[in-house]
Amino acid sequence: MNIKKSIAENITLEVDDVNFESLISEVQDKVNGDYCLPCFTLAKALKKAPIQIANEIKESYKQNELIEKIEVVNGYVNFYLNQANYIKQVLFEVDKNTPFLPLDEYKNKVVCLDYSSVNLAKYMHIGHLSTTVIGESLARIYESLGYKPVRINYIGDYGTPFGKMIYAYLTWGENASIEEKGIDFTQDLYVKFCKCAEDDKDLEEKAREYFKKVEEKDPEVYPIYERIINASKKETKDILNTLGVKFDSWKGENSYSGELDNVLELIKSHNLLKESNGAKVVDLEEYGLGACLVQKSDGTSLYATRDIAAAIDRYEQYKFDKMLYVTAVQQKLHFQQFFKVLELMNYPFSKNLTHVYYGMFSLPTGKIASRKGKQAVLKDLMQDAYNKAYKMVENRDFNDNKKQEIANKISLSALRFNAIKTERIKDTVFDLENAFSFEGDTSAYLQYTYTRLCSILRKAEFKNAKPNFEYLNNNTVFDIVLTLNNYQETIIKAMQQNEPSVICKYTIDLCKLINKFYNAEKVVTDNEEETQSKLWLISNLQKTLNKLFNLICIDPVEEM
Ligand code: ARG
Repeated sequence: MNIKKSIAENITLEVDDVNFESLISEVQDKVNGDYCLPCFTLAKALKKAPIQIANEIKESYKQNELIEKIEVVNGYVNFYLNQANYIKQVLFEVDKNTPFLPLDEYKNKVVCLDYSSVNLAKYMHIGHLSTTVIGESLARIYESLGYKPVRINYIGDYGTPFGKMIYAYLTWGENASIEEKGIDFTQDLYVKFCKCAEDDKDLEEKAREYFKKVEEKDPEVYPIYERIINASKKETKDILNTLGVKFDSWKGENSYSGELDNVLELIKSHNLLKESNGAKVVDLEEYGLGACLVQKSDGTSLYATRDIAAAIDRYEQYKFDKMLYVTAVQQKLHFQQFFKVLELMNYPFSKNLTHVYYGMFSLPTGKIASRKGKQAVLKDLMQDAYNKAYKMVENRDFNDNKKQEIANKISLSALRFNAIKTERIKDTVFDLENAFSFEGDTSAYLQYTYTRLCSILRKAEFKNAKPNFEYLNNNTVFDIVLTLNNYQETIIKAMQQNEPSVICKYTIDLCKLINKFYNAEKVVTDNEEETQSKLWLISNLQKTLNKLFNLICIDPVEEM
């Protein structure tokens, strides 16, 4: 329910060009009312003292059952909600599902999300967890508001790293099977190549040579490239499936490597192409963005060239209203540059491109270097988390399947939640030790809250009867309802800022209030009507948590 709007609509004071709704805010401490309207900005326009305006607003206010009392304090009008009516009206909406419906203004809009986008044949590491979960959560957030999301995994299947692997394979590894050993093998080949290249300067040249053979579809070399791509794609897909993430498109960089001439032609036709030491660039100096390299001196395309081609292609295919790219902050300049090039070429969609960047996500032991060792490899981390979660349920009274299912849900949710619970730009250290604690800002705490609700609904036999709101009129319920009423606003804010952590924080706050209610109130009483009314509330809270969990990629668990 939009309280600000409702209050504004009942102010009958006639003033031109004033949007009362935007002036009203929720009072955080709730000491002097629940909502307030400061009159200071109005004073200038109306040439009256703020306190006088505040009094006039109070006088003009049309009485209604939502607002119980109005007070003027200095230049503020303070509105006090009628607790009983407010609780009833908001919960009624929640029960009818109305705060959760997609909004007309977003319906049928398309958002493309480019995330995960791993470089194939190397391990997925902990940093990939950030892009994958931020992207997936955003896809769900947009979808819940009415957008149609298109999930794109722009895989890194192009470039000299593959030349390195192929050279290493032909030199040292031909006896082993790429299909059988997968990324463990290709990663090792890559590492070995890099080690040897430190002493043998010619090797880098070899790598370029071999990658050139890939581009020319050399009959001996190209099939090896294909085998590496297919094997590692399969493995990557398996990991993403386990994480619960599925893509609509896997069209990667290589699909756009053949677009070089077209892109150069386009850039040239807008008089933007310049030579620089044998390479071709778009000069973006006047925008403080340096030079965007679009062709190397050896005639090959670059990351930016392929991204320009991909953006144009995706617009043609999906006619997106927005496109988001989720990567680490280190790539900021790259995105600024090619967005600018598209803008200078007058593509109207260029203003709808957003780089959604995040800070460093690491384990307590330090940074991740994929070349050096196997530290922070995502599948190891997933196994580790699983083992820890399994210990938590090992001695519970469930059968083996159930234990495994719960351990899976707890561990994967912990990994995902840790990747999005902090504002994405902040550097975060992932602490696996505390991730499973039932206290604090953890997914385990959220899941635990959910199981409590499930358990009481099970044990007390909720009959799905309509409630008597008299039994729901108290301060703890009021606090819950105030928070519930911010549901829609919170989702919209998360979408506008492309910031899933907004919903993580909201869900934690809601769970804290739910636990407070649970501890303070006796749900099952001798009075059946009272019991059922409280169960009705609990059932609605359970449904709400379910929706929120889905948006932040947490698996609900019914018992644990
Ligand atoms: N493959 C790149 C990397 O691992 C990320 C690609 C992001 N998406 C894009 N359209 N550039 O760094």
